[in-house]
Amino acid sequence: MWETYYTPATLNEALSLLSEHRDAARVIAGGTDIIIELERGLRPDTRVLIDITRIPGLDEIGLWDDDLIHIGPMTTHNQVVASPLLGERALPLAQASWSESSPQIRNRATVAGNIITASPANDTITPLRALGAQVTLRSSAQERIVSLADFITGVRRTIMQPDEILTGISFAPLDANRRGIFLKLGLRRAQAIALVNVSAVLRFDGDTVTEASITQGSVAPVIISSPEAEQWLIGKTLDKATIDKAAELAAQAAMPIDDVRGSAKYRREMVRVLVRRALVALRDGNERDGHPTRPVMLWGRHAGELHRRLDQGFAHRDDDPIEVTVNGRQYVVHGANHKTLLRMIREDIGLTGTKEGCDEGECGACTVFLDGMAVMSCMIAAPRAHQTEIVTIEGLARDGNLHPIQQAFVEEGAVQCGYCTPGFLMAGAKLLEERPNPSRWEIRQSITGNLCRCTGYYKIVSAFEQAARLLKERK
Ligand SMILES: Cc1cc2nc3c(=O)[nH]c(=O)nc-3n(C[C@H](O)[C@H](O)[C@H](O)COP(=O)(O)OP(=O)(O)OC[C@H]3O[C@@H](n4cnc5c(N)ncnc54)[C@H](O)[C@@H]3O)c2cc1C
Ligand code: FES
Ligand code: FES
Repeated sequence: MWETYYTPATLNEALSLLSEHRDAARVIAGGTDIIIELERGLRPDTRVLIDITRIPGLDEIGLWDDDLIHIGPMTTHNQVVASPLLGERALPLAQASWSESSPQIRNRATVAGNIITASPANDTITPLRALGAQVTLRSSAQERIVSLADFITGVRRTIMQPDEILTGISFAPLDANRRGIFLKLGLRRAQAIALVNVSAVLRFDGDTVTEASITQGSVAPVIISSPEAEQWLIGKTLDKATIDKAAELAAQAAMPIDDVRGSAKYRREMVRVLVRRALVALRDGNERDGHPTRPVMLWGRHAGELHRRLDQGFAHRDDDPIEVTVNGRQYVVHGANHKTLLRMIREDIGLTGTKEGCDEGECGACTVFLDGMAVMSCMIAAPRAHQTEIVTIEGLARDGNLHPIQQAFVEEGAVQCGYCTPGFLMAGAKLLEERPNPSRWEIRQSITGNLCRCTGYYKIVSAFEQAARLLKERK
């Protein structure tokens, strides 16, 4: 694990730390990739982490005077999903971010981190490539802008230098004549890495295609385009024969491998199916179908930013104290600087209601609120909690009264072994804050990050519905 955890207050401070520590240092954003890598010992040379999540202004999304959409490096997947601009003018990216993991992960994980990890299965790279995105890289010495196609050079490899920070992603917005879609196939609907994903962005003149970009993920070492299919579509209208041929040409461009999630043959066939579906949707104008208009965030009443302005940056090493408010009580913790937030809560603060299930962001048993938002505490470095407010399961009941979601779990018998229950309760409490009267679809969305191996979920969903009734009665 890391030796020193820096939390700079400005971008310049972060850049100079990076140039000072170079190969020994790595930037940490949401931490949902890097914490797993470090816990698994995959990057033993990482001695310094530089946390950029509390630098103001890095999560902005806007359409600038250069007629490009710009998104900042700290923009999370949930912020993408919530952005009216991106929903309207960059639908494939919004669809990809919505397909990423679970609400708790999307509240931390950034699009920039997704690109930089450069896994061929990472979902936002496929639409950003189809949108012709470029990235801005800055070091203390210079700034450069490179196309996303040139940025990624292989499996988990990019051209980024050790002293560089990715400071922006930009691309031309879609409009009525240039429309796009992202489709993903995973082994289940939530919390699933792509078996295959595709994105298509087409420009139309009336019904005729004048430009085409079709990209595919999880079928080659990097996200690839489909030049023959793209060329085939130019000057054509999207009749069945044209679409079938384009889908076939795209499938021929795929270079998939066999692995535990699927055979190469199946993946190639799924490219054909998804490209076909994408082109039909764009032809029929229903590419938005299924994309939520009011997505569940697990932000509660919060606006979605995870950072509070700092007066000055700080560093945590060895025994430096982490000052944190947990369930309204202040703690000063020593000796937790190299732990995850989950371990600090359980081992140093002594609140063991928050459970460790998977320790990999998959099960939701470790859900807590960090400055008002539901997050997976196993995916967060403990020093990130310095000068923050945390709520754990022990903080849900107030003045001796169970929270409505707790009361409803008792009434509905939604607990068997109970190990997953704290995580479900935290997700439920945050959902009710956000949607006091949630639909069944919203309830299901809110628990996509929580796994239960005992109950079969029916009673949990009933308990959420009962909690909404109890909440209404209490008002
Ligand atoms: C349970 C689970 C499910 C997941 N499901 C999906 C999924 O469905 N689809 C998918 O695509 N991904 C998935 N992921 C992967 C992960 O959540 C994403 O890749 C995420 O977007 C990474 O962003 P982050 O901010 O957490 O990155 P971090 O972990 O903070 O960083 C990732 C890498 O980027 C570097 N970095 C980050 N920001 C910068 C910057 N601005 N400048 C320089 N370097 C930087 C870091 O040093 C590190 O190398 C999942 C992960 C988990 C744990
Ligand atoms: S998600 Fe954190 S322990 Fe499983
Ligand atoms: S009640 Fe046992 S894992 Fe959910």
